[in-house]
Amino acid sequence: MAIHTDKISVETSETSKINTVDFSNLDFGRVFTDHMFVCDYEDGKWQNPKIMPYQAMTFEPSARVFHYGQAVFEGMKAYKDDDGKVFLFRPKQNFERINKSSGRLAMPAFPEDYFFEGLETLLKLDNDWIKPGVGNSLYLRPFVIATEPAISASPASMYRFMIICSPAKSYYNSAVRVLIADHYSRSANGGVGAAKAAGNYAAQFYPTSLAQKKGFQQVVWTDADTHTLLEEAGTMNVFFRVNDKLITAPTSDRILDGVTRKSIIQLAEDLGITCEVRPVTVAEIKEAAKDGSLKEIFGAGTAAVISPISAFEHQDELFEISSVDAEDSYAKLFKQTLLNIQHNLSEDKHGWRYEVK
Ligand SMILES: Cc1ncc(COP(=O)(O)O)c(C=O)c1O
Repeated sequence: MAIHTDKISVETSETSKINTVDFSNLDFGRVFTDHMFVCDYEDGKWQNPKIMPYQAMTFEPSARVFHYGQAVFEGMKAYKDDDGKVFLFRPKQNFERINKSSGRLAMPAFPEDYFFEGLETLLKLDNDWIKPGVGNSLYLRPFVIATEPAISASPASMYRFMIICSPAKSYYNSAVRVLIADHYSRSANGGVGAAKAAGNYAAQFYPTSLAQKKGFQQVVWTDADTHTLLEEAGTMNVFFRVNDKLITAPTSDRILDGVTRKSIIQLAEDLGITCEVRPVTVAEIKEAAKDGSLKEIFGAGTAAVISPISAFEHQDELFEISSVDAEDSYAKLFKQTLLNIQHNLSEDKHGWRYEVK
């Protein structure tokens, strides 16, 4: 395919790996498409944006990212409808959020024209990797790392922005069991929790591995000060359904402002479902579980879309949510509604779809 772009130089791959990939059996995030987008920050500006074959790169061992973790990323998806049209979902939100994350880590903002031109050119080149059908998508991973070879503890003057792409299949995701944090924290007031900073994820691995040993797949994080407020899960914001009302925590320094979360809040309004955005206490959710008014808990994020939660434990008290598989669950309703919008199968009254032409 011929690609024309004013700003970006394109070196295409001579061969494609696509025929070696079993698209019906994909392990999330292990297979990458033929191309990637790369742009460097040097001498105070982003320069030399290019698309090149996906390949290993070399960095000096002193590159600052290896020492001080100046690294931020995004997660978004491209979808294809049955006519072969390709769509992104609210991509401007991801563009704005990566720059917000970068700002928090003293990293330079990436220009909007390079972001969109790089992304769209990449999607046109790797178009065959985007499979049609609800549940299929191409996961897109924009990220920025500090490349300057210098190990004094200060912000770098050289960075690399990249986008890599990985085909994804959403399997029927079975409900997850979660542990509510009462010792470890993922973020704190004034910290970096609201940034998609690489280190936030590293910090969760150990406490999550402890939860996994106890039979829980994920941790629901609470506020670091008091551990009494329910905040978010590993890579998902969290919603609680008490009777017919939804509740979710407000965003803050400690919580990622999720695109799926804000879309669900809007869809709830469209569907006439009350959604309270306010601090949610562990105590009220335990109380609601005890008196039977807690109908559902689900996580919301780009990777899984909606992930129902079937049980939670807090300080050795275990609560099973028996209505998790109900046909009329909000989790199913929001998942279907979002997927239909993302795959161009329903009206898009908020203009969330972004066609890659
Ligand atoms: C910590 C955290 N919370 C929430 C989310 C959900 O955000 P989004 O819906 O934008 O994917 C993510 C994933 O990006 C995340 O990493």
